[in-house]
Amino acid sequence: MKFFIDTANLAEIKEANDLGILDGVTTNPSLMAKEKIVGYDAIRQHYIDICNLVEGDVSAEVISTDLKGMIREGEELAELHPNIVVKIPMIKDGIKALNHFSTKGIRTNCTLLFSPGQGLLAAKAGATYVSPFLGRLDDISSDGLQLIADLRLIYDNYGFETQILAASIRHPMHIVECAKIGADVATCPLQPILSLLNHPLTDSGLAKFLADHKKGNA
Ligand code: E4P
Repeated sequence: MKFFIDTANLAEIKEANDLGILDGVTTNPSLMAKEKIVGYDAIRQHYIDICNLVEGDVSAEVISTDLKGMIREGEELAELHPNIVVKIPMIKDGIKALNHFSTKGIRTNCTLLFSPGQGLLAAKAGATYVSPFLGRLDDISSDGLQLIADLRLIYDNYGFETQILAASIRHPMHIVECAKIGADVATCPLQPILSLLNHPLTDSGLAKFLADHKKGNA
């Protein structure tokens, strides 16, 4: 399973990248605004900065919601760097845009996906990735992991090459469950990735090894 980091914060991207386990980055307009990256030029420069930090796919989201606008913006974003993946919302014109980019060989990530039916449409339209938001489903007492499992079943039934990019991940067990189901990618903030490191028996075991070594070599 590939690991993407879901942030526009360069320091966090660098920290995850330094671990040697990072395969890419996802961003969205909220994450860009959180880092105070505003305005056409600054946003585009920030995507280039991210691409220069990480070897791997970097999702850059369009703001337009009409087909013409999405195509214009998506083509501009794709021009910025070969690793840019154009992020398109799961709406009617979005499906048409996915189709357009697929025939042009521009890679896409269909975002804001909340149902298996939406996933089926996006795959048929040729999306490179789909982003099911599992945490936001859990937030409304629905079952985010079940959506990941449903998409896996549907894509395997028909041999769709669209990759399942599990998004809106809230904690480390979401990552582990996604890996068990067979999601192609998990994207999440830095903290859930770092939390995978933790186990109290590792800490106490290491403390004992070091104490015994010290005693033996006193
Ligand atoms: C995915 O690409 C989105 O940026 C993200 O995972 C949304 O997560 P959130 O629900 O924590 O905002």
